[in-house]
Amino acid sequence: MIRHEVVVVGAGLAGQRAALAAVEAGRDVAVVSKLHPLRSHSGAAQGGINAAVGAEDSVDTHIYDTVKGSDYLGDQDAIEFFCREAGPTVVEMEHFGTIFSRAPDGSLARRAFGGAGFPRTIYAADRTGLALLQGLWERLGTEEFTLYSEWDLTELLVRDGSVQGLVAFDRRRGEFEMIGAKSVVLATGPAGRIYGHTTNAHSCTGDGLAAAYDAGAYLKDMEFVQFHPTALLESSILITEGARGEGGYLRNSAGERFMSRYAPHVLELASRDVVSRAIVTEVLAGRGFHGPYGDYVHLELMHLGKEKVESRLQEICDYSRHFAGIDPVTEPIPVYPAQHYMMGGIGTNSRGETNLPGLYAAGEAACVSIHGANRLGGNSLLETLVFGKQAGLAAAEHAERATAPALDAADLDRSVAPIRAWSSRSDGEDPSTLRTEMQRTMDRYVGIYRNEADLLEGLRQVRALRARFERVRVVDRSRVFNLNLTDAVETGHMLELAETIVVGAYARTESRGAHSRTDYPKRDDARWMRHTLAKRAADGPQLSYSPVAYTRWEPKERVY
Ligand code: FUM
Repeated sequence: MIRHEVVVVGAGLAGQRAALAAVEAGRDVAVVSKLHPLRSHSGAAQGGINAAVGAEDSVDTHIYDTVKGSDYLGDQDAIEFFCREAGPTVVEMEHFGTIFSRAPDGSLARRAFGGAGFPRTIYAADRTGLALLQGLWERLGTEEFTLYSEWDLTELLVRDGSVQGLVAFDRRRGEFEMIGAKSVVLATGPAGRIYGHTTNAHSCTGDGLAAAYDAGAYLKDMEFVQFHPTALLESSILITEGARGEGGYLRNSAGERFMSRYAPHVLELASRDVVSRAIVTEVLAGRGFHGPYGDYVHLELMHLGKEKVESRLQEICDYSRHFAGIDPVTEPIPVYPAQHYMMGGIGTNSRGETNLPGLYAAGEAACVSIHGANRLGGNSLLETLVFGKQAGLAAAEHAERATAPALDAADLDRSVAPIRAWSSRSDGEDPSTLRTEMQRTMDRYVGIYRNEADLLEGLRQVRALRARFERVRVVDRSRVFNLNLTDAVETGHMLELAETIVVGAYARTESRGAHSRTDYPKRDDARWMRHTLAKRAADGPQLSYSPVAYTRWEPKERVY
């Protein structure tokens, strides 16, 4: 058996930052990642990272914007900590080697983002995630740690009530391995591939969330799913909010800047839930454009001029030209909302601690909760770094005092026996068919607008798919890069998580942030100012609720 003191699963920004903190604390650290670290989904983040730097902005405004953006479901103590850490975090990343865009006077350039009371989103053109990832990877590379790249997490091992290691599948060798650990940090990123229309990479299958849930951790606020307003039609590639931050307009087929109906003060720069609902409402009212890939609206950048569009939005130009065949310098971009982010995740405190001793989580896999019912753009990159570091520190502290894991070879056999059985079936269900059907179900029944009948049908279909998954079959018997096998593992994970999303959404009979129930259109603070906790039980997720933490900000109506 392989052994390390701290094992971090996931090598995006949260995972790397956690690993760096744990190495600096003197622990023996390993990073297990399904992708090479520089290919992690953090690299897809485009528009920027929020920090109140400079005299005109303030940390308090950042805190207030985040609380308001969360529709008052964010935990205010955690949000205060988060926003205070923002400035030092950005400066640290710059010292690590990240090259941010500059204003003419040489200061950090900042752009407007949705729901922000001040233009505080610091960026590197429209490749901010990639720039941060490279800076952090360079810094981490100066330390000693072990990297297990292209290894898939299949299970967490819990003994005597604490997490003592994990099982992972090495894609290159086709072997399952057990790694004993005193602390495990899950930084496995999003689970967006539960949906068909998503800005998330194909790797975003929620493996850490599912493993934590199976091990007995709480998943928190899973019903809150963010849809980014502007995904490129057909491919759902992200078209950054930075495009609107730089001055882009949204128009419907009547030529109207329709956001004046929904957010009269800030128009296109309302928070994402508001803009996404507005686009869907326009389309449902017949004011969208029609095409072979569905209905859509226009995002216009033409008035910004070639120089600005091509310098600040380089990736957007490339994506639009290559994937939609249009030039945003001279033509509108066809956009429609797509799943983008999960506000929910593995329940943690600000130190990344879960309800299971030895288990920590950070980044999009975790729910601290700072985003509540709706995340502000630019707060996600910041979250990975702030809470990645905290989780790494806490994991290192725990590892220093924990006893060695008590695992033996039989644990590995027990863990992988059910997966091996998938390959010995002579007939059964194809995992990719189940995955596609799940995505259609979630797109159709658990999207931006929800209601009881749709959610019940969604739940029925997800449960039917889960039942079919019991008979999943892997036909490819090869060892090296057996993607049929990894597809089956991931699909099983996503089906479990899909069920927690639908069950949470069905139970929450109100509209708040990204959870919009047409049958319960109002926010209901008296009943629902509380977090949803989902725990795995034999007959599906068992829900309970926990209070929201307040410091200074009284809930009020959210108007943009
Ligand atoms: O629109 C964007 O660039 C996305 C940023 C984010 O999700 O924080």
